[in-house]
Amino acid sequence: MQTAWTLDEIDWNAFEPRRVDPVQLAAVKAAALVEFNADDYVAYLERVFAGEAEALTLIRQWGDDERRHGMALARWGALADPAFDFQSAMARFRAGYRIHPDAVASVRGSRAGEMIARCIVECGTSSFYSSLRDASGEPVLRQVAARIARDEFHHYRLFHALYLRYAATDRIGLLRRLGIALGRISEADDDELAYAWWSANLAPTGQVYDRTACFRAQQKAALSGYRREHVRRAVHMIARAVGLRPDGHFARAATSLAWWRLRGRGAGASPSAPSH
Ligand SMILES: [Fe+2]
Ligand SMILES: [Fe+2]
Repeated sequence: MQTAWTLDEIDWNAFEPRRVDPVQLAAVKAAALVEFNADDYVAYLERVFAGEAEALTLIRQWGDDERRHGMALARWGALADPAFDFQSAMARFRAGYRIHPDAVASVRGSRAGEMIARCIVECGTSSFYSSLRDASGEPVLRQVAARIARDEFHHYRLFHALYLRYAATDRIGLLRRLGIALGRISEADDDELAYAWWSANLAPTGQVYDRTACFRAQQKAALSGYRREHVRRAVHMIARAVGLRPDGHFARAATSLAWWRLRGRGAGASPSAPSH
């Protein structure tokens, strides 16, 4: 595990309120909730990897990273919008959304499968924070997003290494691996992102929760800073996670398709937003 950064090393005094983009701000507020909610996912993974000491150590360190991401994003969100009440938003989110609370084994069918799903999520987060780092004009957000993006790439490599270890015994074929990856990508439209968007941005104004509308708004905001290079890299990581050649025909065609879809529709289920 790489050495963890701290919130103290961010130059918070460099904050420039006039450079805050309201769309990015809304995306950051929702992301802060999803990131800080890592405890729930750590508890689930602790059940999936019960008795596996090395994996459990890595999972707990990963949880510490994700919580720190949530704290850094929440602090920036409160700088940009002093009315942002992170604690209340977090309480709302946790009251309405739980991660596999009853699962005692992986919902992906095996530990190796669980690691493929984790790789897909870390691919989405790393590309989201990279796009935020590159698209934001606000210097403190750039500092925060750059550090988080680095962590998310590290998490991807960590989970991919664990996948390779467990794949030696949990043998899963290419079709099943693809199914897990596509399943996790399509799960991007489950309640997690939509409910975080509502909890952070809409509930304080008294709006009722509309899952479809919230998901679309969240995706549109999260994808707003993507450039083709972010999409190319995300597809490359997904291909590697399922065992396909990252520079092969599949990856090139998938990049073009994903980019066309992103530009044409502005939103849609994608592996391109912070999620657990
Ligand atoms: Fe994170
Ligand atoms: Fe992560």
